[in-house]
Amino acid sequence: MKNKTSIQGTWASRWIFILAATGSAVGLGNIWKFPYITGENGGGAFVLVYLICIALVGLPIMMAEVFIGRRARKNPINALEDLAEESGQSKKWGIIGLMGMLAGIFIFSFYSVVAGWVLHYIKAMASGELANVSSEQAGALFNELLADPVTLLGWHTLFTIMVLAVVIAGVNKGLERATRIMMPALFFLLIALLGYAISTPGFSQGWDFMFHFDVSELSWDAVLVALGHSFFTLSLGMGTIMAYGSYMPKKASIGSTVLMVGALDTLVALVAGLAIFPIIFSNGMNPGAGPGLMFISLPVAFGQMAFGQFFGVLFFVLVGVAAWTSAISLLEPSVAFLVERFKLKRSTASIGLAILVWLLGIACLGSFNFMSDVTFFGKNTFDALDYLTTNIMLPLGGILIAIFAGWFVKDQFVKDEVQTSNIIHTCWKISVCVISPIAVSIVLLLNL
Ligand code: PHE
Repeated sequence: MKNKTSIQGTWASRWIFILAATGSAVGLGNIWKFPYITGENGGGAFVLVYLICIALVGLPIMMAEVFIGRRARKNPINALEDLAEESGQSKKWGIIGLMGMLAGIFIFSFYSVVAGWVLHYIKAMASGELANVSSEQAGALFNELLADPVTLLGWHTLFTIMVLAVVIAGVNKGLERATRIMMPALFFLLIALLGYAISTPGFSQGWDFMFHFDVSELSWDAVLVALGHSFFTLSLGMGTIMAYGSYMPKKASIGSTVLMVGALDTLVALVAGLAIFPIIFSNGMNPGAGPGLMFISLPVAFGQMAFGQFFGVLFFVLVGVAAWTSAISLLEPSVAFLVERFKLKRSTASIGLAILVWLLGIACLGSFNFMSDVTFFGKNTFDALDYLTTNIMLPLGGILIAIFAGWFVKDQFVKDEVQTSNIIHTCWKISVCVISPIAVSIVLLLNL
């Protein structure tokens, strides 16, 4: 039992796990979603609630996921089943993993479309097409892109192939190698952009906007958004972190490692906000512009600044890299499951899944053009899948994982695997047994 390893491989070191998990966590959620939902929800007060959700709910659930994965050394479904059996519980707990797989496939399909926009914007920025555009022109260009299924399909296809190329190569030759190259690049790009933002006149206004806490600005809605987003941004509730945990070396301490991943993810989101808002304010634009913030407001802002084109390209490359390392992790749990349960070859499993998510992605990109009249509860396919996963499936998966780890798994198993001090163990226990289930249930009920 003690020296089991996953048949998929093991990360070379604790640091590789930290970087790979951070690569999964840091993505469009941090750089695209976080700034625009912060803008829509009034800034500082929202940021505060988000930080509280990460600390009280996100990190404890992440610990539970890593624990389950590393103890079983298997894909999420088998890991949950094994652990349930060992603890004398029903193997039906494996269903959480199945729901997670489905969530990963759904998320990939809209994620890849947005990543496709990012690839398009790298090209548009680099070619000078966006130089000196007015906000009307930038808005028109974005809408033109959305209305053009062929261009969207091209980028979505390219992105899916990029992800497939890494996943197919396996844990060490694919995921780990990508992590070693892309994560340092990501941090470097982010710091360069932050330096640039600090040099703009709107920096202090951007800082105030993000860190000026005014409780009166807080709405219930913002709390709901913040909690849902804390699952999305930490890649929780769908088995990604469980799968990555199953490749974690035995010696690494789970508590401090998880803390590091959570801290890095939060840091990147805050820095992304600090890089974006000053640029928006320096150009007198509206921080509450919504999903278009990154694709409309930001190009306009870059277009009006010294070295704007250069930093604009850097910015979109950064977002593209971040999206790439996250999208890989959306497929990994399902690939591992197909390989381990049905003895498929990794290549067969990866290609099959890539085709599936590629097809679903077509429905998402069609939401903006040829399929715009297909709606579910009044939302187009893209919005419906985003809503279903972020606001329902991930929180539901997360709460079930918390309840399973807190109430149903033998406590001794947790103590053996996690090996933290009694105080941390008790805090963790309180969160997964009480705080997380209550907080997430309230939010889920209010959402419905
Ligand atoms: N955490 C990623 C982001 O913030 C998205 C993601 C969610 C990735 C769930 C994997 C699993 O962009």
